[in-house]
Amino acid sequence: MGADAQDEPAARVFFALVPPPPLREALGVLAASVAQRAHGRALPADNLHVTLAFIGAWPASRLAHWMDVGARCAGAATHVTLDRLGGFRRAGVAWIGTRTISPLLHDLADALGAALVAANVAVDTRAFAPHLTLARRCRGPFPDEPAGPYEWSVDAIALMRSHTEPAGARYVEVGRWPLRKG
Ligand code: 2AM
Repeated sequence: MGADAQDEPAARVFFALVPPPPLREALGVLAASVAQRAHGRALPADNLHVTLAFIGAWPASRLAHWMDVGARCAGAATHVTLDRLGGFRRAGVAWIGTRTISPLLHDLADALGAALVAANVAVDTRAFAPHLTLARRCRGPFPDEPAGPYEWSVDAIALMRSHTEPAGARYVEVGRWPLRKG
């Protein structure tokens, strides 16, 4: 954990793109069928998102700083097309990703990544591979095929907080910043 005050409550947070509700529902239906095929557990529709930058667990008092980062890095509006099913076998994850990443989406992830590095967050150095996790704890077979497309106009970024509950993780939006149009 990145906490610098061990006795303060930690908030596990990340920046994400959240599909609009009707699309989230459609992706929830896809998650159920992919989970069944891959012998895993579907994420509830309410949890579906594309992670832009993972922050991790930090003292809750740092939330104000992550809110500033969100406000500063909210750049240009863009478009996402999810059109490819795949899996991270070792992690037991099945996802839907994109074959074509818009440069504006890269710019958003890069800006957030740079702001987090400046805030001493150990960010993932692997190339940004946008995906929306559909199912976890998958035993396989893992999907590897075209799907959809599921498309949406990305007009905001969100700061999400993860709550661990008996039924599993629940992600709650704690901040949202609109992206510039045109
Ligand atoms: P995943 O969907 O590929 O599992 C909340 O946990 C979100 O942050 C999930 O979307 C998860 O990605 C992502 N995440 C969790 N741990 C991470 C890490 N160490 N680096 C990057 N992303 C992470």
